[in-house]
Amino acid sequence: MGRPSSPAKPVGPSKPVGAITRGTTGTNRLRRVDRWIAHRPEFTRAAAPLVVDLGYGGSGVTTLELWSRLSRVRSDVSVLGLEIDPARVAVAREQLAAVRSGATAFAPAAAVSFERGGFEVPLPAGRRGATVIRAFNVLRQYAEGDVAGAWARMTERLEPGGLLVEGTCDELGRVCSWVDLTPAGPQRFTVSLRLAQLETPAIVAERLPKALIHRNVPGERVHEWLAALEGAWRKASVLAPYGVQQRWIGAVSALRDEGWPIIGGRARWRLGEVTVPWSAVAPS
Ligand SMILES: C[S@@+](CC[C@H](N)C(=O)[O-])C[C@H]1O[C@@H](n2cnc3c(N)ncnc32)[C@H](O)[C@@H]1O
Repeated sequence: MGRPSSPAKPVGPSKPVGAITRGTTGTNRLRRVDRWIAHRPEFTRAAAPLVVDLGYGGSGVTTLELWSRLSRVRSDVSVLGLEIDPARVAVAREQLAAVRSGATAFAPAAAVSFERGGFEVPLPAGRRGATVIRAFNVLRQYAEGDVAGAWARMTERLEPGGLLVEGTCDELGRVCSWVDLTPAGPQRFTVSLRLAQLETPAIVAERLPKALIHRNVPGERVHEWLAALEGAWRKASVLAPYGVQQRWIGAVSALRDEGWPIIGGRARWRLGEVTVPWSAVAPS
């Protein structure tokens, strides 16, 4: 497990594409999406995985955590944190210096670096594309009309077979949803919820990706999907005595039996996840 072979040297436009927004972040906030990325074949089978964390916020902690989680699966992964706010790059580099000194719980040799950058996704010199770009809680602060352009900018910086994961979550990372994309467009939509004490999966309506959050209205597919999820969860209350995982698995199984095109199986469901093709929720 080494450091990146060459430090990231931003290439492309000198002015990063995008705007500085609120930098709210927190330890462990992105564990659910990190776990999802860690099992994706686009990551596990990549030749030399480079994962970009775009818009890491006021602290580099979720970028360091991303490396910690992914390096358990692929010890050769490198993670590049990009932030449009230069002051936040300075903060993260100070944190990284503390990591290198051995003063933190992170491995001193963590293959992590921090650079200034935006949706143009500057990559290390000589690197053609990123394996995965995680952009979490970034686009939610933009206008809905900005989404398509940002998606296009980011996906064109993926290596062949790479994936952009763009989503939103609450402050504690208990209520999350994301869309994953290739240069061909959005592929899937995933909801991931902490099941303990979950009252209703409808809570995810507050944490939908920007492309969907304004579309949760009658007549839109995402509205129909969330209503179906909520209805199945209510009906599965008979399984509650067997535990929340069984209740969730029962709800998702029922949706599949109703004909919803559920992707994946119980191994994901028991984590509080459910994934459908983007076409099942795409704005009309
Ligand atoms: C709410 S924080 C999210 C932090 C972290 N990703 C998380 O989910 O906890 C959003 C960050 O994205 C940054 N940002 C916004 N637009 C950006 C862009 N185009 N490129 C890079 N960073 C951007 C903002 O400056 C801000 O620090």
